Amino acid sequence: MSGRARINGERLLKRLDDFASIGATAAGGVNRQALTPCDRDARALLARLAMERGFGVFQDPLANLFIRREGRDGHAPPFLIGSHLDSQPTGGRFDGALGTLAAFEVLEALEDAGAETDAPIEVVAWTNEEGCRFAPGAMGSMAFSLGRMPDGWQEIKGTDGVLLSDALNATLEALPAARSRPLGFPVLGYLELHIEQGPSLEKENLAIGVVTGIQGTRWLEITVTGQAAHAGTTEFAFRRDPMVAVSRALNALYDTIMPDDPNARFTVGRLMVHPGSVNSIPGSVFLSIDIRHPDSARLDEIEARVRTLFTDAAPSTGCTLDIRKTFDMSPATFSSICIDGVATAAQQLRLPFKQMVSGAFHDALYVSRVAPAAMIFVSCRDGLSHNEAEHVEPEHAVAGARVLLESTRVNLAN
Ligand code: GLV
Ligand code: MN
Ligand code: MN
Ligand code: MN
Repeated sequence: MSGRARINGERLLKRLDDFASIGATAAGGVNRQALTPCDRDARALLARLAMERGFGVFQDPLANLFIRREGRDGHAPPFLIGSHLDSQPTGGRFDGALGTLAAFEVLEALEDAGAETDAPIEVVAWTNEEGCRFAPGAMGSMAFSLGRMPDGWQEIKGTDGVLLSDALNATLEALPAARSRPLGFPVLGYLELHIEQGPSLEKENLAIGVVTGIQGTRWLEITVTGQAAHAGTTEFAFRRDPMVAVSRALNALYDTIMPDDPNARFTVGRLMVHPGSVNSIPGSVFLSIDIRHPDSARLDEIEARVRTLFTDAAPSTGCTLDIRKTFDMSPATFSSICIDGVATAAQQLRLPFKQMVSGAFHDALYVSRVAPAAMIFVSCRDGLSHNEAEHVEPEHAVAGARVLLESTRVNLAN
């Protein structure tokens, strides 16, 4: 890479503010769920900024958005940097946006300096990383790594009842100036900057995490069906109450999974009771389960335990059971070349760092299946994320962007 590019911290912080106003919530966070009008507005703003700088803009059939700065060798596969622009319903302003906008800042910094690279560099904003509206998460990068649309995608419906295919068409059509790309193509490598979303860097007073891998994730959707009946008249023996089954199974799971294994994570984030009436025994209860672990064998064991407990609890209360797996992401270890590149960059910038495994999943996990990849973390206040109060100190955001620029440089030189 020739020419000495420098991150413009002020410009990056202003961009973070501008994007945080798209889907802003009253509590200071964002609600920019995947493929909603707000997500489309954020994508349109990024595409407009890119075109103003003369970069190429492309989208693939899953609406992954690519912004290309040409290299000397027009035929070389691009080096990708980026993250996502979609958010949780009560999300923070940095989760995804920081990595995407810092990547765009890298491109602008190279352009400002007139720096030439051999390979083209592309910023990517992956579609639907969060997975909270349309499961599974990291959908865009997963499809990219497979080179095809996800299994059964035409049937996927959002939590609001909207079909994924309709939301995708509306999103693709909203950016007519973007050129079409096939899903999946060779890339030289991938780097993603992200907030840690946990407390360890802040606790150890470290600016940077060099991410060596990502733990595995499983999502289950469970429906226990009994019989809706009158709350005042129905004796216990005649009840087929799915809430009894759900609470028995969950009690046992909460009492054992995380207390017995400090590396395990077990979360019930969604619980829907039908018909949801104060004086009716529920006819059905739906819940989502999110399981995380760095070890695939432990994920298998925990999933089996969940299945056994619900399979025992449902008939014991006269109920039936339906369990679906909607997400199965194996743990990943990143490329040692990319990890070393990020560590070298942090060292060169004299930023204190440590190597760590990510507790959250990220698009880098899927990209690492088709290209050398790694991630850079920056610390966030109180380790809080997936929360409107999520906060990153401005100097940490800028430090993260500097490491991204420097490690892109190091990786391209390798
Ligand atoms: C991604 O947002 C995750 O849940 O790890
Ligand atoms: Mn994220
Ligand atoms: Mn997130
Ligand atoms: Mn995430």
